[in-house]
Amino acid sequence: MDEEGWQHAGRVGEISSARPLAVEVGGREVLLCRSGGDVFAVDARCPHAGQSLAQGQVRGGAIACPFHGARFRLSDGAPTAGPTRRALGTHRVRIADGEVWVRL
Ligand code: FES
Repeated sequence: MDEEGWQHAGRVGEISSARPLAVEVGGREVLLCRSGGDVFAVDARCPHAGQSLAQGQVRGGAIACPFHGARFRLSDGAPTAGPTRRALGTHRVRIADGEVWVRL
């Protein structure tokens, strides 16, 4: 972690465009997602019933929960479909030389 709290989370090239990449940042599971040339970091647990989003599908700037179909916008975690109105936690991302840095 640098002095501003940024922690190295992985490389952009490791993240597929359809599935999140589960990584550990500061002892916490975080999902790195690629969409439209951007990288987003979101919490790994769905706010609906706490299931893992690691097998969720990333599409159209959102991640879909494989359990009950909730979808969350990657940019701010807002729910856009499904059984919950609770937002998914999101984290700030910085890219430098193909490396992904996350601030929780
Ligand atoms: S646990 Fe994700 S939609 Fe229910």
